[in-house]
Amino acid sequence: MTRTLTPPRPRRRLRAISLATVTAVVLAAGVAATSAQAAGSTLQAAAAESGRYFGTAIAANKLSESAYTTIANREFNMITAENEMKLDATEPNQNQFNFTNGDRIVSWARSNGKQVRGHTLAWHSQQPGWMQNMSGSALRSAMLNHVTQVATHYRGQIHSWDVVNEAFADGSSGARRDSNLQRTGNDWIEAAFRAARAADPNAKLCYNDYNTDDWTHAKTQAVYNLVRDFKARGVPIDCVGLQSHFNSQSPVPSNYQTTLSSFAALGVDVQITELDIEGSGSAQADNYRRVVEACLAVSRCTGISVWGVRDTDSWRASGTPLLFDGNGNKKAAYTSTLNALNGGSTPDPDPEPGDGCTVTVSRANEWGDRFNVSLAVSGSSTWRVSIGLQGAQSLQNSWNATVSGTSGTLTATPNGAGNNFGITVYKNGSTNLPTATCSVP
Ligand code: G3I
Repeated sequence: MTRTLTPPRPRRRLRAISLATVTAVVLAAGVAATSAQAAGSTLQAAAAESGRYFGTAIAANKLSESAYTTIANREFNMITAENEMKLDATEPNQNQFNFTNGDRIVSWARSNGKQVRGHTLAWHSQQPGWMQNMSGSALRSAMLNHVTQVATHYRGQIHSWDVVNEAFADGSSGARRDSNLQRTGNDWIEAAFRAARAADPNAKLCYNDYNTDDWTHAKTQAVYNLVRDFKARGVPIDCVGLQSHFNSQSPVPSNYQTTLSSFAALGVDVQITELDIEGSGSAQADNYRRVVEACLAVSRCTGISVWGVRDTDSWRASGTPLLFDGNGNKKAAYTSTLNALNGGSTPDPDPEPGDGCTVTVSRANEWGDRFNVSLAVSGSSTWRVSIGLQGAQSLQNSWNATVSGTSGTLTATPNGAGNNFGITVYKNGSTNLPTATCSVP
């Protein structure tokens, strides 16, 4: 059974205001504000409009880097330790626990008013050597002790725990992944969840996995059946984490929203826990938009976390899968994500003359004499964007739109490539971001 639920709070729609022409005022920071609604100007603010969070993975050894923490603090309000709460980090020797780096991340998050996802209590991977060499009832006891000790240490400070990570096999079998934990008995997952509930009764308890985004995949169905069984038998489980690592081999599936709504219909929250999408430009931006729109359409999809801050922070850095480039600039994917969170890219089912549009502008790649500007329109598929070049700036190139003019004010209109387009601007002495306003002709 699948059902699609409406979002937790009614979204404010641009249509209801029926603005006549110009609706966007672009601020110097490259963020659009509209007179139709108080659009969130950061990812966390935009997500909060519908009661959701927007998070990222954080690495403890980057907390001293201000370029990194500035972005992380401004944009995200849910923090996951990328590696620091894993088994090898927290229990390097049996019964000797080390929370130093995990605590650093929790402390940074909480002192900046953010919540924390715990990742992860029981996993076949990144086990300390002593655990890798264990089996049977000794391993089962050691695993449960680990769950209890770590969840107790962080009791009251964790929004959600990935209690068990990646316990199912890839491919068409729908079977459990073979591992030393699995070989302790099929009930190891529920035992871990019961231990986590006992240690931290207020944390939400999640099962987290990858390649569980396509509703038709055997692995997705296997996780669905596990959750359904847990709910039927009263095994404590509150949420399912979809890691959602996407690339050309594993693209955003067309049935992604069905997967989210189907899990939600079991009575658990759904969290997108490790989102990254390899690619660049408008294709990547469009994929991020699709993921956000799918989450917003499912009321129990309660938040999205990306797996890192800048492309260079990513475990898949060469695939440039994140929302900020290595220099900390907002990418087109950032803009489309922000717009989607603000509801701007929700297709208008009943477009009328006089409906407005908004445009956001952000700086992209930069070279000595020129830089790229990404523009993303929302609210209408027919639009005219006036771009105000700064000083003596001039147009060098454009893509995904028809652009007229070369200096001063440019005019951009759709060329069939969608609502995300870009220009390359010769600086000619000014590095200021051009302004842009959107109108519906
Ligand atoms: O800290 C050491 C450093 O001292 C050493 O010099 C260096 C070279 O070997 O390795 C460093 O540790 C690496 C660690 O990342 C920190 O960068 C480990 O080798 C490396 O294995 C580890 O990779 C992590 C990976 O999980 C391990 O499975 C990635 O950072 C982390 O992003 C990734 O995250 C996983 C999630 O936990 C679960 N879902 C998939 C996701 C991506 O693989």
